[in-house]
Amino acid sequence: MSTETLKQSYEQAPYDSRPIPMSHIDRLAVLGRLHGLAPAPIAGARVLEVGCGGGGNLLPMAGDLKGGEFLGIDISPRQIADARAAADGLGLGNVAFRTADIMAPGDLGDFDYIIAHGVFSWVPPAVQDGLLRLCRDRLRPNGIAYVSFNTYPGWHLRETVRGLMLHHAGRFADPATRAAQARAILHALAGSHQAGDPAVSALLQRETQNVDALSDAFLLHDLMEAENHPVYFRDFAERAAAAGLRYLGEANVGTSYDLNFSDEVRQILATARDRIDREQYVDFWLHRSFRETLLCRADAAPSAEMRPDALAELWVESTLRPLPGPAVMPPGAELRFRHPEGARIGVTEAAHKAALLRLADEPLGTLPCADLLDGDGDGDGVAVLLLELFGRNLIGLSTRAPAFVAEAGDRPAASRLARAQIGDGRMVTNQRHRGVAIDDALTAEVLRHLDGTRDRAALLAMLERRRVTGLIDLAPDRLPAALDNALDQLAANALLVA
Ligand SMILES: C[S@@+](CC[C@H](N)C(=O)[O-])C[C@H]1O[C@@H](n2cnc3c(N)ncnc32)[C@H](O)[C@@H]1O
Repeated sequence: MSTETLKQSYEQAPYDSRPIPMSHIDRLAVLGRLHGLAPAPIAGARVLEVGCGGGGNLLPMAGDLKGGEFLGIDISPRQIADARAAADGLGLGNVAFRTADIMAPGDLGDFDYIIAHGVFSWVPPAVQDGLLRLCRDRLRPNGIAYVSFNTYPGWHLRETVRGLMLHHAGRFADPATRAAQARAILHALAGSHQAGDPAVSALLQRETQNVDALSDAFLLHDLMEAENHPVYFRDFAERAAAAGLRYLGEANVGTSYDLNFSDEVRQILATARDRIDREQYVDFWLHRSFRETLLCRADAAPSAEMRPDALAELWVESTLRPLPGPAVMPPGAELRFRHPEGARIGVTEAAHKAALLRLADEPLGTLPCADLLDGDGDGDGVAVLLLELFGRNLIGLSTRAPAFVAEAGDRPAASRLARAQIGDGRMVTNQRHRGVAIDDALTAEVLRHLDGTRDRAALLAMLERRRVTGLIDLAPDRLPAALDNALDQLAANALLVA
């Protein structure tokens, strides 16, 4: 398939690019530091996104980090035009978008961070190698690249579904019809396969659920794009090495972290010849289908393990909350904490309990790690605990103080990006670089008006006008409580800024 045909596919049906939390340069900088590199401070970094689509991932970063310099390239002129229009609408002078081919990108300069999300697996093998070379050629010495890709063994099963959908949709030209027909044939097969091999039925049911959750644009490009080349991790790593790059780690640390595996699995992982070999075993165990891999230049020397000493320069964010227990706890008794997504952990060391309780008392759950590591307590032990919780995806780490506030002030404000996005629909990007759906009209109206100039009285007057025109269906005396509730919701979703 020619590059021109691939380009046409995106011209016909643009991709609804969105924020990818694991690709935020703050995450890349955290992992770089934990592995002993000295990545550039994110506030003034030069960042390249390759295959940036309509800019849904790069624009929030540019809006968030005004001192940085951001460049997005994509082969699709239509998507680049969309991205430029969005940047102009937001008045962002620190981001540029350029129509360019990975294979002949022109003079781009060099970068502290390079992001390529959802690109590697969806271009021909020669372009995959071109992407890796581009990363090597354009990364500064301490630079970090994020490259996500579809991987085996997980994609072997998905290829069955892809094969069916492509076979059937091949008869139709129009993208919307192709998507609808692909969904229909998959449902038909999953529904009629009940009496067949139960293992295949279970697979089809699971893949049907996955496909149901995808928008047409995702279905057409992620699963049904003509170019789709998953790779084994070991082959990816070999090709990255051939391009002059070195494996740094996974952006989603928890998927590779040793303590997330049982003792039996860890014994097998311990027999691996090197990190690459170990990661390949991990993929078999997870039956993994997707990776968000971080790379650095081959002449950089990252440590294989995350280093506790790097924490001193980082911030920690925790949503762990203590579970009710006896008012007075004997020394050494276990204090249990709960993560909002359900996980529970117990700690017995006094210093560990004190650190997690202190974080739980902070309005945003964040502190400089140094505040927890310094002092009379067991700083080294706390550092090990923090790394372990990070490895288990139970706390966050950042190179900076939070970019959002815990409560609405006198004149509450939201980012310009979120205010612009709520004008177009109900998905907005929060200050954690995540998409948030705003489901009710009142909260959407409030968010749209949070430019920092309005106090509560002005916001209430605005809501009253909306009520009179019928946009909001609420009795007048219920508006103040509804406004407070909307502001609380926005704060809880990291949408309010100072
Ligand atoms: C699946 S989309 C991902 C878009 C975006 N990164 C995201 O995750 O939302 C792949 C993108 O790669 C772009 N692309 C494909 N081949 C390319 C090439 N040779 N050079 C530059 N961009 C390319 C496509 O136009 C498309 O926007």
